[in-house]
Amino acid sequence: MADRYLSFTGTAPGRFLTRRLGLPQPAPLRRWSPEHPTLGGDLLHLTAGKSDLDLAATGLALVRSSERPAAVLLDASGVRDVEGLADVHAALHPVVRSVAAGGRVVVLGAPLDPADHHQSAAQQALEGFTRSLGKEIGRGRTVNLVRPADALAAESTLRFLFSPKSAYVSGQVIEVGARQVTAPDDWDRPLTGRTALVTGAARGIGEAVAGTLARDGARVVVLDVPQAQAAARQVAERLGGTALALDITAPDAGERIAAALPDGLDVLVHNAGITRDRRLVNMPAERWSSVLEVNLASVLRTTDALLASGTIRAGGRIVATASIAGLAGNAGQTNYGASKAGVAGLVRSLAPRALAEHGVTVNAVAPGFIETKMTAAVPLFIREAGRRMNSLAQGGLPVDVAETIAWLAHPASGAVNGQVVRVCGQSLLGA
Ligand SMILES: NC(=O)c1ccc[n+]([C@@H]2O[C@H](COP(=O)([O-])OP(=O)(O)OC[C@H]3O[C@@H](n4cnc5c(N)ncnc54)[C@H](O)[C@@H]3O)[C@@H](O)[C@H]2O)c1
Repeated sequence: MADRYLSFTGTAPGRFLTRRLGLPQPAPLRRWSPEHPTLGGDLLHLTAGKSDLDLAATGLALVRSSERPAAVLLDASGVRDVEGLADVHAALHPVVRSVAAGGRVVVLGAPLDPADHHQSAAQQALEGFTRSLGKEIGRGRTVNLVRPADALAAESTLRFLFSPKSAYVSGQVIEVGARQVTAPDDWDRPLTGRTALVTGAARGIGEAVAGTLARDGARVVVLDVPQAQAAARQVAERLGGTALALDITAPDAGERIAAALPDGLDVLVHNAGITRDRRLVNMPAERWSSVLEVNLASVLRTTDALLASGTIRAGGRIVATASIAGLAGNAGQTNYGASKAGVAGLVRSLAPRALAEHGVTVNAVAPGFIETKMTAAVPLFIREAGRRMNSLAQGGLPVDVAETIAWLAHPASGAVNGQVVRVCGQSLLGA
């Protein structure tokens, strides 16, 4: 399962040889650890055009000049026409080379103004700019675009993007609404006093999600099928949480979760998922329906039941797990692709209503190629292609998905709603 190519290109002869042969050059990513909680360098603040965003109101430590920034924040929210885009070039062209390896570029845009097609053209241009820079910048550096309606409401998002926690998130466009949010007492333990339930958490990505939410202070409930209880109990014990044996496809799964959590729930993570790959011509109805049932129908049913019963408290968060296979399509996965695209549809439709009626946000992550048992079972050639076909030229780790979910679950992320955020190293598929 280990990525031997990544280890090889990390050595001097490996670097020399792969460069001579014109092969991909994946840079080791700098991920969060207690010893390295930050990117460890300057956060350079640049502006293109005139901006109304009050970034000084946030707790971000911005500087106006730096020779070797760890990250660059380009505020282009005031760009209203094509001429203004010249300021984007003028601001970034001189500094992009100096951004440290493993660093970040975040472009701030503005919501598109439907009454002004010049502003919309210029702001949409930032999307193509961001995605193109992400593909060429290299050295483990990422580039993302955030469209905030308000600077303070975007603070949790900017903190995430300017931290090692977002190592595998690149080429994304994230909209942040104008809702009032309150900063947590402790940015390091934002989920203290909150309860989080993660489905399919006995192993893989779900286990990493439960671990990351526990690190952030949450009391975690590790839900998995009865057959996986030995592993689920071990995970729960290690994290100081509890295990819940339940097949999420049970018709009364929502009611049973509500009964197990009489004091309510703050964070619901729909992570349980299965694949039953076959081309459509060879796919029996059972393989079709089991994937739709686990990955989509049960997500809809439990979400509806837990919102209706008021189990998910106001200020709560629902995060579902889509996949780039649902956004890009994948041969042999018509069932899986349908189920994961359905998750994105559920999120976009429910998000505004859930927030208005229950004070709960609804978002999804869409993982790309993540190194798990699921992807270790993929034949070698396809696995190698999956790993390299993204801007970072490597697979992600379960913790990359977990960190992204933790940002969406954050109490200060209440203005991030209805988003489907890819955790794919800017995969070339469906980009
Ligand atoms: N690994 C990847 O590269 C990748 C990529 C895109 C999306 N995803 C999605 O991420 C999620 C986790 O993937 P993973 O790779 O960790 O998978 P995994 O197979 O390692 O783990 C899935 C867990 O879900 C549990 N589960 C399955 N059916 C269940 C049910 N009916 N009720 C309760 N629990 C159930 C399993 O027992 C298992 O513990 C899935 O939704 C998957 O589709 C994974």
